[in-house]
Amino acid sequence: MKSYHLVLILLSFFFLHSTSSNLQQTPFIPCLQAKIGPLDSILYVPSDPSYIPILQEYIKNSRFNTTTTPKPNFIVTPHTGAHVQAIIICAKANNLQIKIRSGGHDYDGVSYTSIEPNFIVLDMFNFRNISVDVGSRIAYVQAGAQVGELYYHIWKASKVLGFPGGVCPTMGVGGHISGGGYGAMLRKFGLSVDNVVDAELVDVNGRLLNRKSMGEDLFWAIRGGGGGSFGVILSYTVKLVDVPEIVTVFRIEKLLEENATYLVNRWQYVAPIIDNHLFIRLLVQPITRKPYGKTIRASFIALFLGNAQELLGVTNNEFPELGLKKTDIREMSWIESVLYWANFDNNTSPEILLNRHLDTVGFVKRKSDYFQTPIPKTGLDSIFKKMIELGKVGFAWNPYGGVMTQIPASTTPFPHRAGFLWKMQYSINWKDGGVETEKNYLNQIRSLYDFMTPYASNSPRGTFLNYRDLDIGVNHNGANSYEEGKVYGEKYFLGNFDRLVEIKTVVDPQNFFRNEQSIPILK
Ligand SMILES: Cc1cc2nc3c(=O)[nH]c(=O)nc-3n(C[C@H](O)[C@H](O)[C@H](O)COP(=O)(O)OP(=O)(O)OC[C@H]3O[C@@H](n4cnc5c(N)ncnc54)[C@H](O)[C@@H]3O)c2cc1C
Ligand SMILES: *[C@@H]1O[C@H](CO)[C@@H](O)[C@H](O)[C@H]1NC(C)=O
Ligand SMILES: *[C@@H]1O[C@H](CO)[C@@H](O)[C@H](O)[C@H]1NC(C)=O
Ligand SMILES: *[C@@H]1O[C@H](CO)[C@@H](O)[C@H](O)[C@H]1NC(C)=O
Ligand SMILES: *[C@@H]1O[C@H](CO)[C@@H](O)[C@H](O)[C@H]1NC(C)=O
Repeated sequence: MKSYHLVLILLSFFFLHSTSSNLQQTPFIPCLQAKIGPLDSILYVPSDPSYIPILQEYIKNSRFNTTTTPKPNFIVTPHTGAHVQAIIICAKANNLQIKIRSGGHDYDGVSYTSIEPNFIVLDMFNFRNISVDVGSRIAYVQAGAQVGELYYHIWKASKVLGFPGGVCPTMGVGGHISGGGYGAMLRKFGLSVDNVVDAELVDVNGRLLNRKSMGEDLFWAIRGGGGGSFGVILSYTVKLVDVPEIVTVFRIEKLLEENATYLVNRWQYVAPIIDNHLFIRLLVQPITRKPYGKTIRASFIALFLGNAQELLGVTNNEFPELGLKKTDIREMSWIESVLYWANFDNNTSPEILLNRHLDTVGFVKRKSDYFQTPIPKTGLDSIFKKMIELGKVGFAWNPYGGVMTQIPASTTPFPHRAGFLWKMQYSINWKDGGVETEKNYLNQIRSLYDFMTPYASNSPRGTFLNYRDLDIGVNHNGANSYEEGKVYGEKYFLGNFDRLVEIKTVVDPQNFFRNEQSIPILK
């Protein structure tokens, strides 16, 4: 028994050593060549002049854009499903960890960095076909397409159809939908994953599957259980939803000195139960404003699926404290509201959504919490005081309720449904790199997170998978530990975690598809 173990240990040392020192000699490249042929514009090694530009093109957080950020042994950019199949088979044969990237928006860089020494990035940017079928009210969208491109093509095809996805137009469909994407139509139509009807995926054995051939368990898992644990998603087929020809938006800002705390307090009671055509996001930000000095600004930003008059009817009845007036609000088309939410100037043409590099990127950290009870007024006072003291961390509060309360928590892996009043994002952005700077900003956001403990959901404290946060737990050593996986897994998935583990154990028993926060296998 003992000598058997020793041989294994020696073998694994030899294997690790040989793969890390003789990368170019590993069979990965010849394996791919044998299956695909010439690898021009498919494979990039670190010595290629285009390796760094290709890697950087979809890095959306400057924190992971440094010379010391761990980089992949290879980048592969498949053009077809057959390429993806070959890549999986060859990577698996070589025990190379695969990081899958669609839009690169992962807040902690999980799609293109790794804690494992040997990994490759499989970048899906060539997969961006979209087709919209107005008659059957569905759209086929490939994983590397961006949600802004999807919205644009839906709008081109119909002015009264839309899709309930997220706000930032450059997010990749592959990560966004697999992580349970949400946006301003959440209260009326639910999450993106509540509107997915089919998918194409390449599994660990290199099989190209659709809903029928993958089966309902795996199809369930990739609607919120996170891409990267189960296979490579090539496309989703989504159900489109009815949007009115005219929608209405508003933005109202109040400082502490203008009774902001009173309104924030009211928002907690009203926003999660108001008419489900109305979504009022609340941004809370520490700012400096004359003559008050340091204060807090609360911004109420809304999308209403109806016209101005209907909106005023709703707010006058259900949220009169907001004091909404005709002059505060604007009617527009749904696609214009997409641009409005993405902070474009008035009259920006929807064609801008076809520009895949719209975003300005910097250094960011995000965290999240869910709330099951309103924060008492005294709590709000102390939180705002703390935010002013810290100086830089802001909040985005997104109301739930509406249809979210009607969809059972086990329908998809995304568990925060009935009983969750809102989700909160913590955000901090900065412009200059450097270890000390980063430490200071990370300390700020972590300190506010600790401060919120008495108010946030607990046992376990909920977290939103799409707001990736490696602070809540990481799976080390080949991502194989069920115990480590449970720490973050229950925060993201609550009672759905165990079903995800069971499915993972069946479809990928060797844990080939793994990352810092992937679903572990049962041991
Ligand atoms: C500016 C900004 C705004 C945001 N706004 C919202 C919002 O309004 N609503 C919301 O829900 N979220 C929002 N997010 C979060 C966003 O949904 C997630 O970051 C999402 O994972 C992004 O998808 P991606 O393809 O761009 O990311 P990537 O970084 O490419 O991937 C994210 C994760 O998914 C995996 N993955 C990616 N593609 C595939 C694939 N094809 N197959 C299998 N696994 C895959 C990756 O390996 C990684 O684990 C925002 C993020 C940013 C940066
Ligand atoms: C990454 O660095 C390059 C320069 O090396 C720069 O052009 C690019 O904008 C950076 N991207 C991010 C997200 O910081
Ligand atoms: C996208 O569609 C075009 C035209 O039908 C096709 O040639 C191409 O192979 C498709 N790309 C992918 C990645 O499926
Ligand atoms: C804030 O507004 C509410 C409702 O309009 C009002 O009752 C309250 O007195 C106001 N408080 C302050 C400090 O102005
Ligand atoms: C956009 O339109 C609104 C309402 O018509 C107006 O109040 C606002 O000033 C406009 N903004 C810009 C930048 O033109």
